[in-house]
Amino acid sequence: MPHVNVFDTTLRDGEQSPGVNINKLEKLEIAKHLERLGVDIMEAGFPASSQGDFEAVKAIAQTIKGASVTGLARAKKSDIDTAWEALKDASEPRLHIFLATSPIHMTHKLKKAPEEVATQAVEMVSYAKQKFSHVEWSAEDATRSDIDFLVYIIEKVIDAGATVINLPDTVGYTTPEEYGLLFRTIRDRVPNIDKVALSAHCHDDLGMAVANTIAAVENGATQIEGTINGIGERAGNAALEEIAVALNIRQDQYPYTTNLVLKEIKRTSDLVSKLTGMQIPGNKAVVGRNAFAHESGIHQDGVIKNASTYEIITPELVGVESNNLVLGKHSGRRAFKEKVEQLGFQLTDEKLTEAFTTFKKLTDRKKEITGDDLSAILTDIQTTLTNVKKYELRAFQVQYGSSNLPTATVALMTPEGAPVETARTGQGSVESLYNTLEALIEETINLTDFQLNSVGKGRDALADVYVKMTVNGDEVNGRGTAQDILEASAIAFLNAVNRFLLNEHSIKKEMA
Ligand code: KIV
Ligand code: ZN
Repeated sequence: MPHVNVFDTTLRDGEQSPGVNINKLEKLEIAKHLERLGVDIMEAGFPASSQGDFEAVKAIAQTIKGASVTGLARAKKSDIDTAWEALKDASEPRLHIFLATSPIHMTHKLKKAPEEVATQAVEMVSYAKQKFSHVEWSAEDATRSDIDFLVYIIEKVIDAGATVINLPDTVGYTTPEEYGLLFRTIRDRVPNIDKVALSAHCHDDLGMAVANTIAAVENGATQIEGTINGIGERAGNAALEEIAVALNIRQDQYPYTTNLVLKEIKRTSDLVSKLTGMQIPGNKAVVGRNAFAHESGIHQDGVIKNASTYEIITPELVGVESNNLVLGKHSGRRAFKEKVEQLGFQLTDEKLTEAFTTFKKLTDRKKEITGDDLSAILTDIQTTLTNVKKYELRAFQVQYGSSNLPTATVALMTPEGAPVETARTGQGSVESLYNTLEALIEETINLTDFQLNSVGKGRDALADVYVKMTVNGDEVNGRGTAQDILEASAIAFLNAVNRFLLNEHSIKKEMA
């Protein structure tokens, strides 16, 4: 069966989702999960866009050896040079250059004539080839470009040394028939097309990104691009997990292989959702909470008699474990370490000790610790920077009664190591807690989003809180996991403020 390479852009196009803001450690953790998932290429970021992105791409390029790491660049020398600095340590450094080819973009955005665009594309691909042996060139807004111009420019760019040609549906405008025809035409009319991989990159504005990507594969695409959970600009990108499972389940229609390890899908999807704060809708294909739930009596009866009556994908295929129970009170450090590794986390000794201590504390209050619980704890520990100055929660108390004013008392340690304590009221428990926290810190806070979810099921489920706020006018987000919802809320608040302080610290370092 023909093979299709998978190019993941969760850390670049996915990270461009409105409100998403993930730091270097978080990106690194996602990158490690993507490596386990078996993606062939991962786009780690856009190095010239910010110092933070540059550093994250560099760290990923230095760490990931099981996949090719790439970074985005505009068609300009300074972007290419910056990308090289970030990517040169990768096991297979790769560059992704884009330049718009549609009349709308060339006229209004680039303000260039088609011939000028062709010259720039050729020059920048040749320039990039002096450093990178693998260069992908994207004809931005390809689906609204003139086909004769596309044929012309693609031939030239391949002659200049491009190794992959990508035809993005930048604004999610195309349809399966149209996108399939585009790939067939490019295959038929570009004389040197056999020298390169041909890639599909679809956005989901009309809800057709996955169908369009598959249509491209049926018409000659040898690489597919997308993101985990379909996150991305506006309505997002094609969801890689949906494409992978569709190719697997409908092999009769789609006889193509990928290197993806399907049982890693759920874990990777959960991690991306937690770190980006982008909730997965319950009814989302493949990874939604209800994707394998059978509600109606007729369906339940059928599934009990024979699962295939109503179930075309087994939960196990994508790594949803029916028995998610992992460890309990008596589990020792060795069993714990083994489970941590099985879950895909590589922890330093210091972080392993911290995780084990947190786990032990949790077993005093929760009888059964599930894989999901453990993943939530490990994600927080793995993505928390040690040895940096930050606010630390020492203790808190919230008094709530249906007929009195909620009051919170909080004790904190400031980044300078000073203990501080105070009390405030609010209209609800969380508000009183947040008013108190705000009174204790120097920064000015405006809370813009608060999400509360349970990790798994049951009354003793862990609480997962995600907040978005402006801290001194800058938008940041924060996460907190704890058994108690108020404790998770307090942790999420301080996590956001500490992330702000960390950003401030790196900006100051940059300017020094
Ligand atoms: O959608 C798009 O056109 C892109 C390019 C940068 C490839 O993401
Ligand atoms: Zn895109």
